[in-house]
Amino acid sequence: MARRRMIYEGKAKILYEGPEPGTIVQYFKDDATAFNAEKKATIEGKGVLNNRLSEHFMTGLNAIGVPTHFIKRLNMREQLVRAVEIIPLEVVVRNIAAGSMSKRLGIEEGTPLPRPIVEFYYKDDSLGDPLVTDEHILAFQWASHQDLDDMVALALRVNDFMSGMMMAVGIKLIDFKIEIGRVFEGDYQRLIVADEISPDSCRLWDIETGQKLDKDVFRHDIGDLADAYTEVATRLGVMPKKSVSGTGPKLVQ
Ligand code: TMP
Ligand code: ASP
Repeated sequence: MARRRMIYEGKAKILYEGPEPGTIVQYFKDDATAFNAEKKATIEGKGVLNNRLSEHFMTGLNAIGVPTHFIKRLNMREQLVRAVEIIPLEVVVRNIAAGSMSKRLGIEEGTPLPRPIVEFYYKDDSLGDPLVTDEHILAFQWASHQDLDDMVALALRVNDFMSGMMMAVGIKLIDFKIEIGRVFEGDYQRLIVADEISPDSCRLWDIETGQKLDKDVFRHDIGDLADAYTEVATRLGVMPKKSVSGTGPKLVQ
C-alpha cells in the first residue's frame, strides 16, 4: 500500500490526504505550544482527548444544523474531515473578559461582557496573529461582506451551543477560537466550521471553583494539562475517568 501523503503539519495537528477526493485525515498530536510556540511540550494523551472532544462538539453542531467539516472519527488520534479552503482568520468569541482582551483593554479577568463579542485575528504566526477589523478583512479581501456576516452568525451559534453544553456540566465557556473554511457546491460556496474545537482553543472555568480546565493550565504552569482535559471529557461523558493517564493499560499511540 502506498504511504498516504502529508498535506500540512501544524503545531498540534497533521493533515493527510483523505481516502476520497475532498476529504482529509486530521491527526491530533500530543504537542502543546503557547505564546506563538515560544513554549513547547509534549503532553501524553492530549491528542487522544482533543480528537474525542472535537468529535463530540462538531457532531453536536452538525446535529443542530451548524455545518462543520467533521465526517467521522477514524481511530484514537484521527478523524476524517471535509477538505475546505481555510479563511485566514481566527474567529474568537468572548463571553467573559480574559487573556488578550483583559490585557489590551485593562478589564479584569472574569468580568462578564455586556454581550458576546466576536473578534477576528489574521492568521500569520510570523506576525503573532494580530487583531484585525472588518476594514482590514474587506480591503485585503480575506473575506467578503457576506462571509463576514456568515462568520459572525456561525460563531455566535457555536457560542450558544458550546455555552449550553458546558453549563450543563458545571463549566463556564469564557471564550473560544474557531476557524472557518469554504466549501464549494456547484456555483455556490458555503462556510463551515473547520479545524478543531477543544480545550486547546477554548477557555473553560469550573462554575463553582473557577478552576481552569483549558490550555491556560499549560500556558501558565498551573497544573496537569491532561488531567484538566480528562476532567472536561469525563464530565461530558466522552471518556471514562483515568483512561488517559494513570496506571491502566497503555493507549495505542
Ligand atoms: P486570547 O485571549 O489569547 O486572545 O485567546 C482567546 C481565545 O482563543 C482563547 O480561548 C484561546 C484561543 N486561542 C487559540 O485557540 N489560538 C491562539 O493562537 C490564541 C492566541 C488563542
Ligand atoms: N497561540 C497558541 C496559543 O497560545 C499556540 C501557539 O501560538 O503556539 O494558544
